[in-house]
Amino acid sequence: MSLLEFEHVEKSYEEEDVLHDVSFAMDRGDVEVIVGPSGAGKSTLLRCVNRLTEIDGGRIVLDGDPIHDLDVNDLRRRVGMVFQDFNLFAHRTARGNITLGLEEVLELDHETAVERADAYLGQVGLSDQVDSYPAELSGGQKQRVGIARALVMEPELMLFDEPTSALDPELVGEVLDVMADLAAEGMTMLSVTHEMGFARSAADTLTVLEDGQIVECGRPEHLFETPENDRTAEFLGRLTDLEQ
Ligand SMILES: Nc1ncnc2c1ncn2[C@@H]1O[C@H](COP(=O)(O)OP(=O)(O)OP(=O)(O)O)[C@@H](O)[C@H]1O
Ligand SMILES: [Mg+2]
Repeated sequence: MSLLEFEHVEKSYEEEDVLHDVSFAMDRGDVEVIVGPSGAGKSTLLRCVNRLTEIDGGRIVLDGDPIHDLDVNDLRRRVGMVFQDFNLFAHRTARGNITLGLEEVLELDHETAVERADAYLGQVGLSDQVDSYPAELSGGQKQRVGIARALVMEPELMLFDEPTSALDPELVGEVLDVMADLAAEGMTMLSVTHEMGFARSAADTLTVLEDGQIVECGRPEHLFETPENDRTAEFLGRLTDLEQ
């Protein structure tokens, strides 16, 4: 059974079709990277998975459960999300940002929550920053707190929406390294990113989305070397040029 399945998903805002007939499936442990021009519907696609946005047609199924049959809090515990702009609480420390969900959603006692938060901060290399506030952290460190905050809920699936695009270039690597480790450990990951080095080395599937539709989808090396669609070739060519 697939871990995540999109079946003919439709989404529109007012008159505008934002996702049209989007279908794909991911198995447990799959890493899928989505690319596409601005406005293609990439963030919308991710946001539909944990119901930050509701779809208008079709179905999304998580490990056999249509997400619309799930309690939204259960769904969000099973699906972690990492945002471009971190979304950390400024008045809470790195540790405090992570214990919040553990205490309020999972209802763990404070001591257990702290222990678990610290373990995940350690996993993303931030053991020495547990008491720092977001303003005292670099962008790369903030994003690693964001990743730890999602991981601590022990999700089945992780969503990443351009996790490195707000970072200074020299801080991108430390976040991609954490993502690559997660991928290697078998986490199922659906990530919007234009970091093509990451796509080539870590992704099982590269999907090109344009105007709310999947233009092409396949092994990254296949899309880079023998794209079937002219738009794919043009788009990936442009991204690769930018990285050089
Ligand atoms: N809440 C909203 N209300 C109305 N329109 C929206 C809303 N969110 C997104 N849209 C529209 O849906 C389309 C797709 O937006 P989306 O943010 O999913 O694109 P994207 O591929 O993530 O783009 P970017 O690369 O710029 O992040 C855009 O035309 C956008 O204006
Ligand atoms: Mg977006």
